[in-house]
Amino acid sequence: MSATARKKAPNAQDIRAQKGRVPLVSLTAYTTPMARLMDAYCDFVLVGDSVGMVLHGLTSTLGVTMDMMIMHGQAVARGLDKAMMVIDMPFASYEHDPAQAFRNAARLMAETGAGAVKLEGGVEMAETIRFLVQRGIPVMAHIGLTPQSINTLGGYKVQGRADQAQAVLADAHAVTEAGAFSVVLEKVPQGLADRITSEIEIPTIGIGASAGCDGQILVVDDMLGFFTAFKPKFVKRYADLGPLAEAAIAEYAAEVRARSFPADEHVFADTAPVKGPKT
Ligand code: KIV
Repeated sequence: MSATARKKAPNAQDIRAQKGRVPLVSLTAYTTPMARLMDAYCDFVLVGDSVGMVLHGLTSTLGVTMDMMIMHGQAVARGLDKAMMVIDMPFASYEHDPAQAFRNAARLMAETGAGAVKLEGGVEMAETIRFLVQRGIPVMAHIGLTPQSINTLGGYKVQGRADQAQAVLADAHAVTEAGAFSVVLEKVPQGLADRITSEIEIPTIGIGASAGCDGQILVVDDMLGFFTAFKPKFVKRYADLGPLAEAAIAEYAAEVRARSFPADEHVFADTAPVKGPKT
């Protein structure tokens, strides 16, 4: 069922109206079963382009394509009933000009049923955000550390310390004025995140920012301990499922080699002797 057909799911205006109220809860999801598990607990679920690193083994999000996002978006939509679905615009699908952004955002929404798109960038993306919003596409902005710009930022560094703070503040105001309904603040110092939250009228969604943001988001595989290639400081592991999964796989491998799996309860009895000559 598409997100637009889901009566219970909040829309972009509902999320915007949560500003300053109970903190918004969000996680990323890439598959139907994971979306089902989080549906009752999240206000919105993000089909993040982190899927490239988390599920496809890419070393950055730059190789993620529109087709990948659409496939994972459709899978997540099948698992959601109550939570809104937001989908990331992948690298190079929106930066060229507003018309390119509209074409690809419209395709993402039409083919997945997402209720909004997310794109990275502040002042430089304001014109594009305005263009999309005026044409019916709700936009969640993403400022601070923007992983698609990793090659120009020079690494996954905190953004907005000291003399960079004014630029991040200007980004927050620019995306708000352009009509974004919320903004992700990634790896922004706490004091700056709190100032942005108090100055702009749309909800701030923190990831490595501040508990004072209007909401929080984490990559689900990070917080469950499945993605262990590295662990940013802002990730809290609520479970350590990676080692549990590996132990289960190791036990299975040992049992297969020892012929103790499958056991009698896992196989089907013959109802009569197998006839015919042995070959
Ligand atoms: O792709 C992603 O996972 C994100 C984060 C903000 C969670 O954009």
